[in-house]
Amino acid sequence: MTPVKTNIVLCGFMASGKTTVGRILSQLTGKGFVDTDSIIEERMGMNIRQIFSELGERYFRGLERDIVIEASGRKNIVIALGGGAVLDPENVKDIRKEGIVYLLKVSPEEAVRRSKESLEERPLMGDQAEDAEILMRAREDAYLRAADVVIETDDRKPEELAKQIANDFKDKTQTNSSLQNPGL
Ligand code: S3P
Repeated sequence: MTPVKTNIVLCGFMASGKTTVGRILSQLTGKGFVDTDSIIEERMGMNIRQIFSELGERYFRGLERDIVIEASGRKNIVIALGGGAVLDPENVKDIRKEGIVYLLKVSPEEAVRRSKESLEERPLMGDQAEDAEILMRAREDAYLRAADVVIETDDRKPEELAKQIANDFKDKTQTNSSLQNPGL
C-alpha cells in the first residue's frame, strides 16, 4: 500500500513565486513552512549572494542538499525549494518520498520583471530576459522530471495559485486515502 504523501513541494525557476505562494499555502493548509534558501541564510548568518561569492556555488549546493535531506524527513510541511535544487537527482528522489511536487512556471520576461527589486539577492539572475531564457531552457528537463504537476504563474495572483495547489493536493491525497481504505 502506498502511504499518502503529506508534504507540498514547490519547485521552479527564480522568481516563479515559490516563497510567496508557499507562505500562503502554509496558511491555507495549516502545514508548517520551510524555505530552503531562508534556512541556509539563517544557519550561515550570511545571505545567498555572500555564500556564492565567498564560499562558491558548490559549497552552497552542499548546504542545500543537507537542508533538502532534513526537510524530506519531515511530514506535513510546505517546502519552497531554491531554483536550482532539483538539478540534483538525489534531491528530487528524497523530496518526492513524502511530497507531491508542483512546478511553478514563469516566462523569462516575467521572471526578470519580478526580480527587478531583488537582483541583489539572486547571484544567478541578471536583468536580461535572454539570459534568463538560456538558463531556463538548460533546466527545463530537470524541472519537468521533478514535477508531478505543472502550474503556469504568469498573470496569476499568488493567492489564486495557492488555492489551486491546495485543492489539487487535497484531491490527490483524499483520492489516495479513500482508495487505500475503501471501507472508510
Ligand atoms: C538559485 C535560486 C535561488 C537560490 C540561489 C540559486 C538557482 O533561489 O537558491 O540563488 O540556482 O536557481 P530562488 O529560486 O528562491 O530565487
